[in-house]
Amino acid sequence: MEITALDRQREVYLSGFAGKISEVPKRFWKLEKEAKENMSKRAFAYVAGGAGTEQTMDNNLRAFRGVEIVPKMLRDVSERDMSVDILGKRWTSPLFICPIGVLELAHHRADLAVARAASSLNIPFIFSNQASVPMEDTARVMGHATRWFQLYWSKSRELVASFVSRAEACGCEAIVVTLDTTMLGWRTRDLDQAYLPFLEGKGIAQYTSDPVFTRMLETFQPVATKRQITPQSLLGLIQMVNRYPGHGFFRKLKSGLPLKAVQQFISIYTNPGLTWEDLSFLREHTRLPVVLKGILHADDARRAIDAGIDAMIISNHGGRQVNGSISSLEALKQIRAVVPASYPLLLDSGIRSGADVFKALACGANAVGIGRPYVYGLAIDGERGVREVLKDFLADFELTMGLAGCRNVAEVREAGLSMH
Ligand code: FNR
Repeated sequence: MEITALDRQREVYLSGFAGKISEVPKRFWKLEKEAKENMSKRAFAYVAGGAGTEQTMDNNLRAFRGVEIVPKMLRDVSERDMSVDILGKRWTSPLFICPIGVLELAHHRADLAVARAASSLNIPFIFSNQASVPMEDTARVMGHATRWFQLYWSKSRELVASFVSRAEACGCEAIVVTLDTTMLGWRTRDLDQAYLPFLEGKGIAQYTSDPVFTRMLETFQPVATKRQITPQSLLGLIQMVNRYPGHGFFRKLKSGLPLKAVQQFISIYTNPGLTWEDLSFLREHTRLPVVLKGILHADDARRAIDAGIDAMIISNHGGRQVNGSISSLEALKQIRAVVPASYPLLLDSGIRSGADVFKALACGANAVGIGRPYVYGLAIDGERGVREVLKDFLADFELTMGLAGCRNVAEVREAGLSMH
């Protein structure tokens, strides 16, 4: 679907003329506020929160504020081309959709709604390892639109290989290994609410739909834990059973599988022992490009290139992992300085407007990931809400590009910036 910024403006203003105003606000703070009203307290905390005192989240936003665009005039920007080449493919815009787990917290259509919105606008979608919907189902609603699969490297290599082969089979074009979450960060909002969605069986659909994971369940011996039976825990159990694949609530309950699946997931999903050496296992199991997500240090970037990694996503996971960490934008600048000019660097964390997209590209990114904003659109109005948010990003970026005197992304990469 080809829409331009001017079409988008016209669409918005004309619907206003007819008395209709979109439920999806354009300004981020308002988008977040509106989403909060549409989500449970725990769900909102899970999405909006970061690690510790949330300093990294602040750093991300501050870094964007610290870079200023210096527009150039009289450069005939009547034709504007937002396309970029990423890993041998032409994307119609530099945007991609970040992998975000447990989207059912925002809307019951979860990943399916996001997939439909993304593919209708030709924006690549990175499927999360912690998705609420199995990757095959999400891929099915996307036609030929571009998708990548994001992997969390669990303690079972057999499971890693299984996820990767499923991703290949359902048309994913790259494997993104997220490196920054070998353990969950100290997420204070979630800890205050004592809430982890996985315990209700949410966000583990890639596992419960996996043949290796379900086979492992046959021999899995859960460690006995003392559980308190409360109305809340019973409700959690009911949700867990309902969410487990298959029909018949009591049959599933009696099988004990839903509870065992959550316990098995908890026991294997993190792998703090992961090292650079493990990455060769991935190379042996896929011919797809391998992308590392969560690289922030220039030394790691050099090492990744030596290891033959095809691209990197410079990201601090939206400030959810290391509190007080470098912003992704600052890390991008440092890393761009040490890698070849043609090496693909993608960025996420803190993108809140078209101007942020512009700044990231001008600082050396090849593409830019949208994170929380689309989740908020999802919470407000499902698929339509996601589409609205994405259309707004496209329009805002296209206008910023043109008004700054750039006709295409190559010119954005050369644009004038003032740094503070
Ligand atoms: C994430 N992120 C994430 N990353 C990943 O590789 N796999 C995942 O499953 C998730 N899950 C997830 C859940 C939630 C609720 C959030 C907010 C984030 C991180 C995500 O891909 C991206 O790096 C950040 O969202 C970017 O930061 P902003 O722009 O959202 O602040």
